[in-house]
Amino acid sequence: MSSDGSIRVPAILEKKRDGHALTKSEIDFLIAGYTRGEVPDYQMAAFAMAVYFRGMTDGETTDLTRAMLYSGVVLDLSDLRGPKVDKHSTGGVGDKTSLILAPLVAACGAYVPMISGRALAHSGGTLDKLESIPGFRVGLSLDEFRATLHKHRVSFIGQTKEIAPADKKLYALRDVTATVPCLPLITASIMGKKLSEGIDALILDVKTGDGAFMQRYEDSIALAERMVAIGKGMGKRVAAVITDMNEPTGLMIGNSLEIEESIQALRGEGPKDLVDLSVELSAWMLVLTGLQPALEAGRTKVREALASGAGLEIFKRVIEAQGGDPRVCDDTNRLPHAAKRREIRADEKGFLAQARCRAIGEASMLLGAGRDTVADVVDPGVGIVLGRKVGDAVDRGDVLATLHYNDEARLDRALIRLNGAFVVSQDRTVRPPLVLKVIE
Ligand code: URA
Repeated sequence: MSSDGSIRVPAILEKKRDGHALTKSEIDFLIAGYTRGEVPDYQMAAFAMAVYFRGMTDGETTDLTRAMLYSGVVLDLSDLRGPKVDKHSTGGVGDKTSLILAPLVAACGAYVPMISGRALAHSGGTLDKLESIPGFRVGLSLDEFRATLHKHRVSFIGQTKEIAPADKKLYALRDVTATVPCLPLITASIMGKKLSEGIDALILDVKTGDGAFMQRYEDSIALAERMVAIGKGMGKRVAAVITDMNEPTGLMIGNSLEIEESIQALRGEGPKDLVDLSVELSAWMLVLTGLQPALEAGRTKVREALASGAGLEIFKRVIEAQGGDPRVCDDTNRLPHAAKRREIRADEKGFLAQARCRAIGEASMLLGAGRDTVADVVDPGVGIVLGRKVGDAVDRGDVLATLHYNDEARLDRALIRLNGAFVVSQDRTVRPPLVLKVIE
């Protein structure tokens, strides 16, 4: 605070740099100023780095979440007659469950107003994936968002000038300033967005392990507990599942590749880990909304929507409603594909013991699926297709991964990053359970 009593940004930065707790007024001042464009990116980047090193108290984290939430409008969706529910993941590699569960849960009777993010560091983003569908618009107006929800029970948008605008800017800044893996910043980013959606219930998929932002199990639990506490404090039904991110989810990593695999999953042909996780999260969504009495009943209902094709039909209609080409659901060749392929093969026989998740996510990003600077444009067709999952038997010469690429220089960087990423051993690795812990 300056001598005349007014708040100054350098003083806020100094206070956080030196490890002191900020007041609600200081946090509100900073986030409101940043949203209006009065606080420049360089000061906000310094703030993010100070929080990264110094952390925040639970009270500061709640204040930051509220400031992010009220940087824009909070949607009133009370005119939708039915429960409104969403899911958010803390970020992973090949984690495309949102695309599968949103239409499935809609097919089971809930509304899913989904506000998502873009690729962040080595993890993918739902918005970038959806934009790889020719014509698909994530930048809907609020009226268009509402109309799509009314008609199809699902709509996907990003943060806008109206909804969670502070997160739109800060998310992009954190992505390129090495300030993503930070409990208070992740909490405020996710809960600020999700609480603005006008939902009744929320399931959080908190990732842990090598490919997660919170790599240590205890940190993932702390993140889950904070987010659940904030959500409940705002009157929502919220639960979090802690899930393993030591290998990518499914087999495909990259924007259009992940759309392709989501379509396969909605056709009932997806890889088991991806389908099981999507069903589990969907079942939680149905239980939290009260549409199903218990998880087992939820799972049965979701599997029915999968088997009948009802989920795929809704996905197709939502793609069309948001300007995309729905024919991709019948023919995934209509999605953009990279021009070239390079295979990585096993040089010994055994079992796949590790597919290092972070390295694979970073390699996909280096191929062009993610960003190095705020201004970078992602390449929709590039990515990595895995040939084996952890625990699978491998013969010498088997394809462990195929890189889909357009640019030789990018391929070279990705191959260097993948050096040692696939480990074959003589013993079969036991895969961890689907859900490691539930926080309610
Ligand atoms: N997902 C988000 O929306 N925000 C984060 O900070 C991390 C993951």
